[in-house]
Amino acid sequence: METSPTPELEEIQHFLVSRPAALAARYEFLTFRTPASGRKWLAGLIDKVGTAKAVHPTRLDSRWVTIAFTSNGLRALGVDEDALATFPEEFRQGMAARADILGATGTNHPDNWRGGMGSDDLHAVIILFACDDKERERCRVEHEKYLTQHEGVEVLSTLDLGAIPSKRSGAHEHFGYRDRLSVPAIEGMGDEPTPGSGKRIKAGEFFLGYPDEEGEGPALPRPEVLSNNGSYIAYMRLEEHVGAFRDFLKQHGKTKDEQELVAAKLMGRWRSGAPLVLSPDKDDPELGGDMQRNNDFNYKEMDPHGYGCPLGAHIRRMNPRDTAVNMERRRMIRRGGTYGPALPEDAPEDGVERGIAAFIGCASLVRQFEFAMNVWMNDKTFHELGNEHDPICGTQDGSFDFTIPKRPVRKKIKGLPQFSTLRGGAYFFLPAIKGLRYLSELETS
Ligand code: HEM
Repeated sequence: METSPTPELEEIQHFLVSRPAALAARYEFLTFRTPASGRKWLAGLIDKVGTAKAVHPTRLDSRWVTIAFTSNGLRALGVDEDALATFPEEFRQGMAARADILGATGTNHPDNWRGGMGSDDLHAVIILFACDDKERERCRVEHEKYLTQHEGVEVLSTLDLGAIPSKRSGAHEHFGYRDRLSVPAIEGMGDEPTPGSGKRIKAGEFFLGYPDEEGEGPALPRPEVLSNNGSYIAYMRLEEHVGAFRDFLKQHGKTKDEQELVAAKLMGRWRSGAPLVLSPDKDDPELGGDMQRNNDFNYKEMDPHGYGCPLGAHIRRMNPRDTAVNMERRRMIRRGGTYGPALPEDAPEDGVERGIAAFIGCASLVRQFEFAMNVWMNDKTFHELGNEHDPICGTQDGSFDFTIPKRPVRKKIKGLPQFSTLRGGAYFFLPAIKGLRYLSELETS
C-alpha cells in the first residue's frame, strides 16, 4: 500500500517529471553581477517555468522553461551563509572541486572545461526545451531582449541542442545508439514502470521533502520554502569522438555485422536499442523500439557471465539491476540531448565538437550521481573486471581493457581509446515554484 504523500505537481518544476515532445533545446549559463539584478531577472520569468502539473508529454505546447542555480548562484541572489551551510557539502563545493571523485582527470579536467563551467561566476542555468529549432530561435531572441532590461545579468555561455537526423525512429546520440529507453518510474507521478524496470521508486529519491527508500528522508536544507520539492541536477557536457569510435569498430570488426556486434557489446544494447541479454546474436530493431519489452530483462538469472551483455558494458555498469544491492537508492533521472552537427556516415573525423549535454537528477549527488561515476563508471575492479572503466564514458587513457566474455575463449581488447571527453559540468539546485519565488523576493541588507 502506498502511504507516501502525493508529490505536489503544481510546485515541482517539470524537468525531471515529464519529458515533453522537444526536438530542440538551448542552455544559457548565467552570472549575476548584483543580487538585485538576478532577483529581478528571476521574478519576471517564474510564470514561464513549466510545472510537473502543466507540462505533460501528450499535451502540446511549444516551449518549456526550467531554471536552476549553483551554490554560488544562491549566494549571489542573497541566500545567507547560515542557510547555505545547511545544503549538502558536495553541492556547495560544486562539480569542479570534486573532479577527482568523478574521474575528471587528464583532458577531462576542469582546467580544460569550456564556456565558464567550473568558474565561481557560474550562477544559474536557464534550460529551454522547444518543439523545434524555429521555436528555440524565437525564445533565444526573446530572452536576449529580456536580458537587455536586466543589466547585471550576463551570459557566460550558451549551448544549442538538436535532434540528430536518423532514418531510424526514436532519439539517437552521435555514436548512433537509440537513447531514452530506461527511466525510473516514481511513486505518485502516475506512470507505470515498464516491464523489467523495477518497482516504482519513492519520490524522496528525486525530490526533497518526501519519504525516500530508507525512511522519512533527510532534513530539508533551510529555509524549507527554498528547498522543499527541489532536486539536485548534475550537468555534464560530454564530447563524443565519433571518428575514433567508428575507427575502433572497424579495427575490431571485419564486416559490418561484426562492427555492429562490437558496438552492441560496448553499450549492452544494439544501436537499435535491443538489449543484448534478450537478443545476444543479432539485432532486433522491433524489440529495440518496444517499450514494453526493451527493459524486460535482468542480469543475474538471464546472463550471469556476460555472454550476452558484457559485465563492463555501459548499461550494465550504470544500472546493474539484480546484480547490485540497494539499487532503489541509486537510480537517476537523465535529461538532455545532443549538440553539434552529426558526422555523416563514412566521413572522416572533422574536429568539430559534438556530444551529449545532459543533466542527471537526484535527491543526493553523493549517493546517486557521484556513486555512479566513481564506482560504476570508473572503478577498475567493478564486477571483478580488474582493469576496466566504462567503455563509453569512463575515464580512458589507453591503459584500460574491455572484456567480451565468450565461450570457449573470451576476447579482451587492450588499450581502449577515449570515446568521450568531459567539456564542462556543474552542480545545480532545481527549486520548486515557491523556492523560485522566495529567491526572487529575497532582501539583502
Ligand atoms: C558519451 C556519454 C554517454 C553516452 C553516449 C550514453 C549513451 C547511453 C545509451 C545509448 C543508453 C541506452 C538507452 C537507455 O537505456 O535509455 C544509456 C543508458 C544509461 N546511461 Fe548513458 N550515456 C553516456 C553517459 C552517461 C553518464 C555520464 C551517465 C551517468 C552518470 C549515464 C547513465 C546512464 C544510465 C543510468 C542509463 C540507463 C541504464 C539502464 O537503466 O539500463 N550515461 N546511455
